[in-house]
Amino acid sequence: MKTFTTTLLAAALAVASFSALAGDPVAGKAKAMSCAGCHGANGISNNGMWPNLAGQKEAYLASQLQMFKDGRRNNAMMSAMSKGLSDADIANLAAYYAGLK
Ligand code: HEC
Repeated sequence: MKTFTTTLLAAALAVASFSALAGDPVAGKAKAMSCAGCHGANGISNNGMWPNLAGQKEAYLASQLQMFKDGRRNNAMMSAMSKGLSDADIANLAAYYAGLK
């Protein structure tokens, strides 16, 4: 019984910490197909003007996407790219790229 309770508690904690992070990297990976042309298939860009996204901080990536979307950061390519992203898309993409090495 004690083991069962401990397992339940661990599962509850895992769910809680997962939802605190919010982003789903698997959904982010699917969404990232439209980003790969510039930022690279693994988040490493092959153009000197396009930043690497792999391994950057999740909160930073999410905040930059949000800023492109609402115009606080302006770049012709990224402003256009971020227009169609929902808040969930942004969280998922940030989780995906932050998890790449
Ligand atoms: C047409 C090329 C292109 C595509 C497609 C593109 N990006 Fe970008 N991205 C850029 C460029 C160029 C910059 C640098 C913008 C600047 O100088 O401010 C950038 C910057 C970023 C940044 C900020 C990085 C940093 O270090 O500050 C993030 C995050 C980002 N892109 C995410 C994405 C995501 C997610 C997608 C797909 C939904 C995407 N980009 C699609 C060209 C692109």
